[in-house]
Amino acid sequence: MKILVINGPNLARLDIRDSSIYGDLNYNELVMMIKNAASLNGFDADVRQSDDEATIIGWLHECADGNIPVIINPAAFTHYSYAIRDAAELVKAPLIEVHLSNPLAREEFRHTSVISGVATGTIAGFGPNSYALACVALKNLLG
Ligand code: DQA
Repeated sequence: MKILVINGPNLARLDIRDSSIYGDLNYNELVMMIKNAASLNGFDADVRQSDDEATIIGWLHECADGNIPVIINPAAFTHYSYAIRDAAELVKAPLIEVHLSNPLAREEFRHTSVISGVATGTIAGFGPNSYALACVALKNLLG
């Protein structure tokens, strides 16, 4: 079964972001790890990244139209994009919000997620393993 994994702004620059927060993997390594974790759980992961809100909204529309399960790390959009929230709400297949870091343990502006309320669930704080745990959660949900 196909799943879409959507990564938001600045995640393609993991190589130059703070590794004490986001870990040591660069983006290509993260993508390989996600594809591998998905495949171990019986999924074919289409992993995409964009810094652009409209592009992410388009991908969520694709998932809504195609009933495709989603794992999404909306990155900074998590905290303020009502447009991405509204698009995520259109997806009727499971949609898991993930974060590499634990936003609740960081600056106050990261304590709000406008996405969580329309997600099936949220997994945060486990580094790249957050995505692997999301794959396990999807497998449990979808049988
Ligand atoms: C993030 C957390 C966000 O607050 C931040 O803006 C990111 C990454 C994470 O994966 O930990 O870019 O979503």
